[in-house]
Amino acid sequence: MAEEKVKVTIDGISVEVAPGTTIMNAARQIGGDIVPPAMCYYSTLEGSGGKCRTCLVKVSKGSEKDPRPMPKLVASCRTGVMDGMEVQNITSEEVVEARRGVVEFLLINHPLDCPICDQAGECHLQDLSYEHGLENTRYDFERRTFDKIDIGDKIKLHMTRCILCYRCVMVADQITDNRVHGVLGRGDAAEISTYISQAVDNDFSGNMIDVCPVGALTDQTFRFKNRVWFTKPVEAHRDCPTCSGKVTLWYKGEEVLRVTGRKDEFGEVKDFICNECRFDKKATSDWVIEGPRKVKNTSVISANHYEQMVPEPVIKKNLTLQEGNMKQLQRSEKLK
Ligand code: SF4
Ligand code: FES
Repeated sequence: MAEEKVKVTIDGISVEVAPGTTIMNAARQIGGDIVPPAMCYYSTLEGSGGKCRTCLVKVSKGSEKDPRPMPKLVASCRTGVMDGMEVQNITSEEVVEARRGVVEFLLINHPLDCPICDQAGECHLQDLSYEHGLENTRYDFERRTFDKIDIGDKIKLHMTRCILCYRCVMVADQITDNRVHGVLGRGDAAEISTYISQAVDNDFSGNMIDVCPVGALTDQTFRFKNRVWFTKPVEAHRDCPTCSGKVTLWYKGEEVLRVTGRKDEFGEVKDFICNECRFDKKATSDWVIEGPRKVKNTSVISANHYEQMVPEPVIKKNLTLQEGNMKQLQRSEKLK
């Protein structure tokens, strides 16, 4: 028997998905510009999402049976679709405005150190700030400051950059067999820390670096070696007894500067890799090279590189979205 599907319309584009799918994942099935940004949701980490609120959307029609709109904006990564639901993301002024507010909050304690941050060029917060951030801060109080600490011999923690998305905690819980770090304290005092100075040295701990949406967790073997847009990403694999062995090698000339998991178009790693592949295999002879990695044309990494990753954006074909985009443009003109 064919599986029952429910129909949901997001920014004027309809898609049929399995019952129980979240609005975020329904949008990802459509793809393109209408996919809400996600700073804490990570499809391969169970229970992720619901922390950062960047994925807020407006449900303008609840369902076919109960067409009333939802009274407040909802987190699309945590809200399931209903048959006949209508959702607005970038076509809603309210959503764009709320997202701007969320970004402002995320930036309250975040330092403006992109010029020296290793995550620059592949940082989700940098992209969000570029799209929604204000030029100036309205925050008058003192920012939280922390010393940089080594959590393990290969991972550096810059707590000032952390947005408390909990992804690294979930990696440690779900992918390694011994979590020794977590979020200590609550509210303004919340911070990522290890218990009693324990070192994070589990076989899969390096994945915490890949899932961190900002530059809070960085690879000690790559720090300050290069800007990511000067490197050339290449897909490669090896026969690894511990993990899938499918990685991206980041070359500068002939030298492999860094090894990471392969991220998909939503910035998520599907096959987590072990620390041996990540930190200890930095010679080309360790790998079977598959070819250049496809990079999104919107990414700074694509400068002077290879093919583009995404097909033509949905917005070019969709009238509702074109109108929404136009309104957004007019709004930003007014703000100038
Ligand atoms: S260190 Fe990175 S992954 Fe961990 S909670 Fe902070 S922002 Fe999220
Ligand atoms: S991605 Fe939905 S709340 Fe963070």
